[in-house]
Amino acid sequence: MATINDNYLKLKAGYLFPEIARRVNTFAQSNPDAPIIKLGIGDVTEPLPEASRTAMLKAVEEMGDRATFKGYGPEQGYLWLREKIATHDFQARGCEIEPDEIFISDGSKCDTGNILDIFGNNNTIAVTDPVYPVYVDTNVMAGNTGSINNAGEFEGLVYLPITEENNFTAEIPSQKVDLIYLCFPNNPTGATASKDYLKNWVDYANNHGSIILFDAAYEAFITDPNLPHSIYEIEGARNCAIEFRSFSKKAGFTGTRCALTVVPKSLTAKAADGSDVELWKLWNRRQSTKFNGVSYIVQRGAEAVYSEAGQAQVKALISFYLENAKIIREKLTEAGLVVYGGVNAPYIWLKTPNELSSWDFFDKLLQMANIVGTPGSGFGAAGEGYFRISAFNSRENVNEAMKRIIEKFKV
Ligand code: MLT
Repeated sequence: MATINDNYLKLKAGYLFPEIARRVNTFAQSNPDAPIIKLGIGDVTEPLPEASRTAMLKAVEEMGDRATFKGYGPEQGYLWLREKIATHDFQARGCEIEPDEIFISDGSKCDTGNILDIFGNNNTIAVTDPVYPVYVDTNVMAGNTGSINNAGEFEGLVYLPITEENNFTAEIPSQKVDLIYLCFPNNPTGATASKDYLKNWVDYANNHGSIILFDAAYEAFITDPNLPHSIYEIEGARNCAIEFRSFSKKAGFTGTRCALTVVPKSLTAKAADGSDVELWKLWNRRQSTKFNGVSYIVQRGAEAVYSEAGQAQVKALISFYLENAKIIREKLTEAGLVVYGGVNAPYIWLKTPNELSSWDFFDKLLQMANIVGTPGSGFGAAGEGYFRISAFNSRENVNEAMKRIIEKFKV
């Protein structure tokens, strides 16, 4: 008789966003005329940059001609794309990242989960609370945790609370942890990290032989010139950090799929015999075995993001969503709600009114204003009493949603 990976039984029934979609569909079925506005999952709404579309159309034509047709590409991604990323995203900011340290993939969500393939099962793993649920769920699936307790925490994980008191930036743990997930600009709270703050983490990691898994999927939303976009802007990070980035939110690629993971060649971790092993070699081996690369057409679309026109179009896209975030912040504040984030990030984190639980506020918002957001408790126990609103939608929908919130919830 075949058996299952029992670790899956430890998980809550559904992943957060499908669970929200299920509740919204149930509501929509009973209220077919409700004009629902979705500010829940961070899914982009604005069209792909013209530069990317033009490049992809050209690539499609190339695929139609035997002379320029492409079959399997390099599993790590085409060098022309990796070179552009190294130059524009890293070297231009003073980070010593070489093209062959960049692995192109189909998503940061996948990579932040898949990265566990190259780590042992005996690591002490720290996550923030609240946190992007993928980090936790993939550790549960990999057997790196025990069961979930009444507080909604998995045994074996070290939870680092992020709260108003610490400006939603986790404090360095007093104990030794081996793997640490950090996400800046933060999903879900929209908090950002200064260079000094990240330097403390890099020093901690280098002193303890820990690895930081740094999710920078939202770095393009940073407009404050003093904030770092990459952990490699911090001295010493090449020896302790893997960074994940994505074209999804930056260039509207959520449906097109392209991302990247940086694994510096200087990064090592211990084998069972105590020897130091290069993580780059393991990730390269993993990707060559389990992944066949992102399509040529999509990589050409991603490459076009770095053209002069592409850069201007991406900047306009980001400004558009950041203006949405500003409107949301202002209007929610006008409604008397306490809000955080949404300045160098596309997410606004609010305190639920009248001490409602996160899911109660979700239901009220849906029923009374036909607006979908994301309950803070879905991101972890410490997210209870909070709620996330995403700035990814049309201006018309954002304005309408804020009008409804002011009408129904102004305190
Ligand atoms: C979110 O809403 O948190 C994101 O869209 C999830 C993701 O990028 O996978």
